[in-house]
Amino acid sequence: MRRPRGGPRAAGDQGGGPVTETVDLRVADLHPAVDDPALNSMNFLNEVAQHYPDAVSLAAGRPYEEFLDVAALHRHLDRFRRHLADDLGQSPTQVHRTLLQYGRTKGIVHHLVARNLAVDEDVTVDPEAIVVTVGCQEAMFLVLRALRADPRDVLLAVAPTYVGLTGAARLLDLPVRPVAGGPAGIDLTDLREQVRVARAAGLRPRACYVMPDFANPSGTSIGLTGRRRLLDLAAEEDLLLLEDNPYGLFPAPDAGRLPTLKALDTARRVVYLGSFAKTVLPGARVGYVVADQRVAGADGTVGLLADQLAKIKSMVTVNTSAIAQAVVGGALLEHGCSLVAATVRERAAYGRNLRHLVDGLARRFPAGTSPVRWNVPAGGFFVVLTVPFGVDDALLHRSAREYGVLWTPMAHFYDDGAPVDALRLSVSAVTPDEIDLGLDRLAALVADETARRAATAEVG
Ligand SMILES: Cc1ncc(COP(=O)(O)O)c(C=O)c1O
Repeated sequence: MRRPRGGPRAAGDQGGGPVTETVDLRVADLHPAVDDPALNSMNFLNEVAQHYPDAVSLAAGRPYEEFLDVAALHRHLDRFRRHLADDLGQSPTQVHRTLLQYGRTKGIVHHLVARNLAVDEDVTVDPEAIVVTVGCQEAMFLVLRALRADPRDVLLAVAPTYVGLTGAARLLDLPVRPVAGGPAGIDLTDLREQVRVARAAGLRPRACYVMPDFANPSGTSIGLTGRRRLLDLAAEEDLLLLEDNPYGLFPAPDAGRLPTLKALDTARRVVYLGSFAKTVLPGARVGYVVADQRVAGADGTVGLLADQLAKIKSMVTVNTSAIAQAVVGGALLEHGCSLVAATVRERAAYGRNLRHLVDGLARRFPAGTSPVRWNVPAGGFFVVLTVPFGVDDALLHRSAREYGVLWTPMAHFYDDGAPVDALRLSVSAVTPDEIDLGLDRLAALVADETARRAATAEVG
């Protein structure tokens, strides 16, 4: 609500001088998170993209739009409707209610998610331990809300990390303490040290957030030995692991898939966060959490962490849209609950694009003559490019305006606001031709920026 300063102005009163407005609230009086860079990050990046619609976007981590199909919505809905009737034996009245009414807080496709995890990930989980959420984002929020019980609680997270995680933690007054990532995906020595330092300071590290497969933004993965050691370390330090895995189904063509932490977890150390945004449909906003940890109540009864999360969910989103779940459920059913089978085309395209990007970088920034460096991920959507100058939002604007190419400053994925000489490139929402065009433009920006900085340094 915004009113003219000095009270309501009469119609037709033009007044004199600039129109100033009274304010009803100040940001400073709201939760501090609303003014935090982590919460502005996604909006900022979206706004830049909207402002320069003709720029090639090597920024967007969204699925390739032509893979999304309106006709599939109806097919999936109908497939799920038949599943309710034919496989689950629901009467027409029950089907009507399941699809159209308020529904079960933990979801209506939990059994299909469990089947998907069994088929694709070799993870056996009780469907009751699954909460279907409004995207993975809600799953993160629920888990962090549940874990943050005391002002001494902190979350450890591999840096750089996904901004949605940092933002959710901010909203919950849960400090995030960085753990070094490095080329191995996580520096276990640093993880142990961060646990020690936090505990020595009287803090309680509740969990460590990791993306073992093709992480956003770093593109790195944790190897099999690293995964086993991470689980061992979590057991030794009595730490939960929050495994986020939106990109795991997209290994590069020459790379294989590794077992998830959850598949290797024999001690319920891992809370597994899933998303259907990259594999089925981002517009459905459906994700889930596997929370099979056993939780003791004050009265001695033992239940599942999933049930505690469901209580929180009932006060946040009540239940995930039944329609959206039905669409995802139908998509799962169409391929025997295998998203590996459902995403053959996507895997090929994203893998081809990743290879195309990396080859294109090598041609434009030849080793030996160029200071520009990048990593070569074994899959996923993202590559990190390190350049010989600081990369900030102002440079992104200039890149979009003057060069017609969008990317993401890596500083958005660190919590300390320090400048970072790197940017994230994404291959998911573009064609190979667009990658070529985007890289030509990026190479021009890098050349000009390097020359400009050199000239400034000489003058200085
Ligand atoms: C690492 C990571 N986790 C979670 C999400 C969000 O998933 P959802 O769209 O299901 O909320 C994303 C989306 O980009 C992501 O990159």
